[in-house]
Amino acid sequence: MSRPRLGVLISGRGSNLLAILEAVEHGELPVDVALVVSNRAEAAGLAHARGRGVPTRVIDRAAYPRRAARHAAILDALGEAGIDLVVCAGWDEILEPALVQVYAGRMLNVHPSLLPAFAGTIHAQRDALNHGVKISGCTVHFVTDDVDGGPIVLQRPVPVFESDTPVSLATRILVEEHIALPEAIRLWADGRLHFDGRRVRIAPP
Ligand code: GRF
Repeated sequence: MSRPRLGVLISGRGSNLLAILEAVEHGELPVDVALVVSNRAEAAGLAHARGRGVPTRVIDRAAYPRRAARHAAILDALGEAGIDLVVCAGWDEILEPALVQVYAGRMLNVHPSLLPAFAGTIHAQRDALNHGVKISGCTVHFVTDDVDGGPIVLQRPVPVFESDTPVSLATRILVEEHIALPEAIRLWADGRLHFDGRRVRIAPP
């Protein structure tokens, strides 16, 4: 079977995209990153793709002020690129149901908390700190219309220290994101993820 074609959605720095690209380069991830879409022209992460000759598209508010039209354009771009699996890697928009439906069971997101705690916010690390949790972490889950509520593939915990700031906690969580996201993609690519209700069962290799 040919290698799955990955489409990655980014909005900013793109360190999770870089972790994916490096895992592919190191032969640890049997996929081809076929398209990177950013909803921000200035997203620094675009450079990771461009520097490697990975096709990129900027589909932003300037070109498509209305979200429905913007997401329809993203859906078209993913379709034209023959994308099998979509990965939201630091993506900051709630996706239109029409897009989510097309990629049901074929779209992953990484979120910087142990879901279902601190869902639906781009300030999950700050909120976790303010809430006083002693353990946080990251979650990779399938994307559904329930924002940050889709079936969980992997979670990786980190301790929260007395001295933590939102930045120091986010940095510690990010290290785990860079492990969890490529691992979840690998499990998907290897056909090892199976739904059991809302549980995701991971088949042995
Ligand atoms: C990550 O912490 C991700 O979980 C969150 O935003 C951050 C994006 O980081 N949604 P990057 O753009 O992948 O470096």
